[in-house]
Amino acid sequence: MNIKVYVPRDATALSLGAGRVAAAIEREAQRRGLRAQLVRNGSRGLFWLEPLVEVATAEGRHAYGPVTVQDVPSLFDAGFLEGKAHPLHLGPTEEIKELKSQQRLTFARVGIIDPVSVDDYVAHGGYAGLKRALAMSPGEIVDAVTQSGLRGRGGAAFPTGIKWKTVLDQPPQQKYVTCNADEGDSGTFADRMLMEGDPLMLIEGMTIAGIAVGATQGYIYLRAEYPHAHRALNEAIAAARASGYLGSNVLGSGKQFELEVRLGAGAYICGEETSMLESLEGKRGEVRVRPPLPAIKGLFGRPTIVNNVISLASVPVILAKGADFYKDFGTGKSRGTIPLQLAGNIKHGGLIERAFGLTLRELIYDYGVGSASGREIRAVQVGGPLGAYIPASQFDTAIDYEALSAIGALLGHGGVVVFDDTVDMAGMARYAMEFCAKESCGKCTPCRIGSTRGVELMDRVLANVDRERNLQLVEELCDTMLHGSLCGLGGMTPFPVQSALKYFPEDFRKTVQ
Ligand SMILES: Cc1cc2nc3c(=O)[nH]c(=O)nc-3n(C[C@H](O)[C@H](O)[C@H](O)COP(=O)(O)O)c2cc1C
Ligand code: SF4
Repeated sequence: MNIKVYVPRDATALSLGAGRVAAAIEREAQRRGLRAQLVRNGSRGLFWLEPLVEVATAEGRHAYGPVTVQDVPSLFDAGFLEGKAHPLHLGPTEEIKELKSQQRLTFARVGIIDPVSVDDYVAHGGYAGLKRALAMSPGEIVDAVTQSGLRGRGGAAFPTGIKWKTVLDQPPQQKYVTCNADEGDSGTFADRMLMEGDPLMLIEGMTIAGIAVGATQGYIYLRAEYPHAHRALNEAIAAARASGYLGSNVLGSGKQFELEVRLGAGAYICGEETSMLESLEGKRGEVRVRPPLPAIKGLFGRPTIVNNVISLASVPVILAKGADFYKDFGTGKSRGTIPLQLAGNIKHGGLIERAFGLTLRELIYDYGVGSASGREIRAVQVGGPLGAYIPASQFDTAIDYEALSAIGALLGHGGVVVFDDTVDMAGMARYAMEFCAKESCGKCTPCRIGSTRGVELMDRVLANVDRERNLQLVEELCDTMLHGSLCGLGGMTPFPVQSALKYFPEDFRKTVQ
């Protein structure tokens, strides 16, 4: 019998030795004359258990981890191919507490299937959404996405259906679907995990988007730092094309949709949608003035959908199971699920997909099990480098767009970076200004000049030079950047600075030795 053994090809697992473990398993099986079929799956997102090796048994998949090359002979000795006991045995994978309590819709197949096998994808419910979409009118598809309540997962949380409707309403012409896979926020990896673990779901979502708005060409704008995602996407696109899911006649429907991956140029600002379009056109990543909106005049001046990976990958399940099914998850105006990414000083980092409404405390302590250092957690930064710092006193805030906005924070792309009580918040405020100064595209003055002045002011504050007056200037500068910047980079840099000033004022007034 050919036993299936799963070892992730995900970048996190690979960085922890999954490639070497996979090779060792193959060697050991050969040496013992055993037949094992190695499947290189995505990661389950339980990073503290990587490399997580799974074996398909008659009772379902059993997990072992974290596995090193040295553990491999003893795993064979213990009979891991039959799911038998071993010190690294974690039991049935689906019963692992942190996984069992999740509500995986977008990540339902990640870690389960062979990411580049169309057969495996279809066997696990893939392409059901596209098949339903092909039987619907473009307007009905767009309505379903609107009704689901899906809002953009890239950061701005704009309703996806409304964006699509604007593109659909433009007169017939060359239109485009672009996927923003730049994933520049600190502590985020959901896009990467999805593209490495279930790229066909993104491809299916983009195909549905194209059919919905009458776009025949799609581009995935992928950051160059994601070589494993690049490979997985290209393999999956070729497999989808070979099976008739992409091309000039999608599933014999007479509809056309083609897809290509374009590598980004390595600047944070290239994740901002208009800069991304400039970069896709082969120009320097610089923000465009709006209006016109990309939905009206986007890539090469044509109507263009710009959506994040997770937004697009949420579409197949909405079409397959219906808008109401998706909408039933979540709270208030935050419908569906959100893949949260827990990183920084945390014991159990990884990806947690849950319906909106989970509290920060539940995320950090129930899933994350506290700080990696064992020290008290002082703050979390939610939503990337431009997100606010949230103090421990507000950890009972629900993770949804409105609740976070009510405390002056934002969810962004769902990244949560944890800091313990050794963090210097004045240093973090300075870092926010420095980050903005380095990454500014230079188009508008409040950001280009303001961020550099911000670093200088913070240096004076830290050196206790005319401190109170300089702190006042920092506040005024934040106000100018907030209201005067052309895009979110300059416009949101004040969030980490102001939140640090508000919740951790003592850090700005330390005695200089
Ligand atoms: C400075 C800056 C960086 C951004 N980086 C990203 C990014 O890496 N990925 C992303 O999807 N959206 C990013 N965004 C948001 C995009 O501009 C845009 O709102 C998003 O791609 C739209 O897709 P969505 O509606 O599906 O979220 C960024 C925005 C700003 C202002
Ligand atoms: S805010 Fe900064 S990044 Fe955005 S347009 Fe202005 S200079 Fe460019």
